[in-house]
Amino acid sequence: MKQKLRAIRSRGTSAGNLQTAARTTATQRCINPSCGARFDINERIYVCSSCGGLLDVVQESTRDPEQLQTLWTRRLASFESRDRSGVWRYRELLPFADDAPIVSLAEGNTPIYDAPISAAYCGLHALNLKHQGCNPTGSFKDTGMTVAITQALILGAKTVVCASTGNTAASLAAYAARAKLQCAILVPRGQISHAKLAQSLDYGAAVLELDGNFDDAMRVIRELAEDESIYLVNSINPFRIEGQKTVAAELLHQRGWRIPDHVVVPGGNLGNSTALGKGFAELMDLGLIDRLPRLSVVQAEGAGPFANLFKSVAGSAGVSTALLSQHSTSDWSAWPALTPIEDPHTLATAIKIGAPVSWQKSLRAVLASGGTVLSVSEQEMADAKAIIGREGVGCEPASASTVAGIRRLVADGVIGPDEDVVAVLTGHVLKDTDYVIKYHQENLFSDGDVLADRRKVASTYRNPPTLVKATREAIIEGLRRHTSTQDTV
Ligand code: F0G
Repeated sequence: MKQKLRAIRSRGTSAGNLQTAARTTATQRCINPSCGARFDINERIYVCSSCGGLLDVVQESTRDPEQLQTLWTRRLASFESRDRSGVWRYRELLPFADDAPIVSLAEGNTPIYDAPISAAYCGLHALNLKHQGCNPTGSFKDTGMTVAITQALILGAKTVVCASTGNTAASLAAYAARAKLQCAILVPRGQISHAKLAQSLDYGAAVLELDGNFDDAMRVIRELAEDESIYLVNSINPFRIEGQKTVAAELLHQRGWRIPDHVVVPGGNLGNSTALGKGFAELMDLGLIDRLPRLSVVQAEGAGPFANLFKSVAGSAGVSTALLSQHSTSDWSAWPALTPIEDPHTLATAIKIGAPVSWQKSLRAVLASGGTVLSVSEQEMADAKAIIGREGVGCEPASASTVAGIRRLVADGVIGPDEDVVAVLTGHVLKDTDYVIKYHQENLFSDGDVLADRRKVASTYRNPPTLVKATREAIIEGLRRHTSTQDTV
């Protein structure tokens, strides 16, 4: 079986084809420094079979950085479908042979917006928003899913599964449909947005609603994936991370390889921060960049186990270089274990996660880059979301944690007003319209355990609809009133 897989993976290898030869050297390696066990790239495992540690895909590559930049720029003008994908355009970074059976929906190619209103809100002179919500299914998950489903085909999987707060599910459902694979998604009942549920239903997935939260779903799905014919594509699967890491290349490519000082992402299960950190680190190893942007992660206060851990070790101002040398906190493997949150709460349902699977990998990336981890309140997230909306950009609630977090970091002096900052928006504004409408109609409540705990989120930047009579005068008056109430930003 393994031999057959190796044959598929190395098909197309020819003498002198450095590109393919380099990629076939990829293996999976346990992240624990005390273990470091290696596994064949096509072994269908999700964690180390010796010590249970998470796995990295690693490969040696000695490409010329300038040649790579030229090649990737040339592909922007190509009509070949793998070149049109913002993930497969950077395929030299991926562990596949040239003729891999790519399953693509032309993912990636997401815009970077200049965001002056959000910048002013944060106390910055400028701010870039990299909008991963502009992917085919409306979230960043597509950049990882194209790679994970391609690997599922190589492995001969029949059924692909995930646990999800909604976006992974929608993405998996779409890519599985493209690949004609059976697909089952496990979601916490009543805790994912209608839009995400609708997508998964429409793409034909078997939607299994669980009486429990995301962490329960994740536990059960990992047990299910012990069955050989079932392939798990949550971000514990290192191939998901491989796809998502290409966002680092696309982001830098779009900026003419100008390295930001800070890249800020929301944190849930912590696959995205892991992937971006891996992407930047590999680009530095290849010589395409000579320093890492500081990678920071923002969680919701009610679902912030990673932020709690970070604060307990590094303090609220994050890990400064001085702190690193004093307390040797730079070695992630020496950190205490993350304490899961039993019953996480946030209106940003995408990141309502109490036991993030990839926290060690994410910690490693944050520490290597000199970034930080923090959490923001429901109020901060809701207001930041409305501000991003006023840019004409919009995003889903979890994504707005970035702008809320940046505002905090600027106020705390961790980010300077002149620094070059990129916030990664992870989901589209239409992913959660219930939330948007409730905010603008002053009807948004945080989800406490019991009704009495629910607190109203103030609609600071509200824009409610106005009922008008069907007359010219009433409409002009409505417009006038609207203008006078929208000057607050
Ligand atoms: N933003 C959005 C919109 C998400 O959907 C998620 C995760 C995150 C941020 C956090 O990313 O987990 O890599 O740290 N959503 C997952 C899901 C859990 O099932 O859709 P992360």
